[in-house]
Amino acid sequence: MNGSGVRGRFIAFEGGEGAGKTTQANLLAAALRDRGIAVDVTREPGGTPGAEAIRQLLLEPPVGPTGKGWNPKAEALLFAAARSDHVAERILPALESGIWVVCDRFVDSSRAYQGGAGGLGDEAILALHEFGSDGLRPDLTILIEVEPGQLAQRLAERDGDESDAIGGRSSSYHHKVAARFRLIAQADPKGFAVVDGSGDPVDVHERVMAAIEPLLAEEAG
Ligand code: TYD
Repeated sequence: MNGSGVRGRFIAFEGGEGAGKTTQANLLAAALRDRGIAVDVTREPGGTPGAEAIRQLLLEPPVGPTGKGWNPKAEALLFAAARSDHVAERILPALESGIWVVCDRFVDSSRAYQGGAGGLGDEAILALHEFGSDGLRPDLTILIEVEPGQLAQRLAERDGDESDAIGGRSSSYHHKVAARFRLIAQADPKGFAVVDGSGDPVDVHERVMAAIEPLLAEEAG
């Protein structure tokens, strides 16, 4: 808790590769700090030394005897393990001391990628999250949506041929991810704000600020 005993707010950014989540997380943190709010910006997979080590294993998997990386269940367990460490070591301590946490991806990435596109289903991912992180939910999840044609162009500019084990999966996998994100957000309109990520990052930031206005109003009130 901070001086007034108020818990910090937890905001997650979600969306496909190249949607602009990292840029928007940093712009939001700067805007919150301008208002005198203490903010910790972090990311998944990662955010603690242990979770960053797991990130490395996930994005550049050691290749086993079958020539493949992680099987889908092992992949989901590793994401959940990284998240458990991140929540216990960084996110909860910050929130409890009154600091706001802005996180670049959280559990809904596991729901969309491993649960949706990877075929494990939502229940399995939610069960892992319940076990690993007591089911912690952000106060608000901002889903940044960008039309697939624009994304392909941004990604080619950002990654060239250098995409990682998950980013480099087929376009049909990434279409399934996008479709699942949309379903997850539609099922929980209070927990999500869907923001159009097209155009200039400053314009997208204005949409993000409009989406978090209710949280800021609560803070002020
Ligand atoms: P990262 O470079 O952080 O994402 P981005 O390309 O959006 O900048 O890479 C993280 C990759 O891991 C990305 O492809 C999404 C994937 N991922 C999952 O599959 N499940 C998860 O739970 C998380 C957090 C990420």
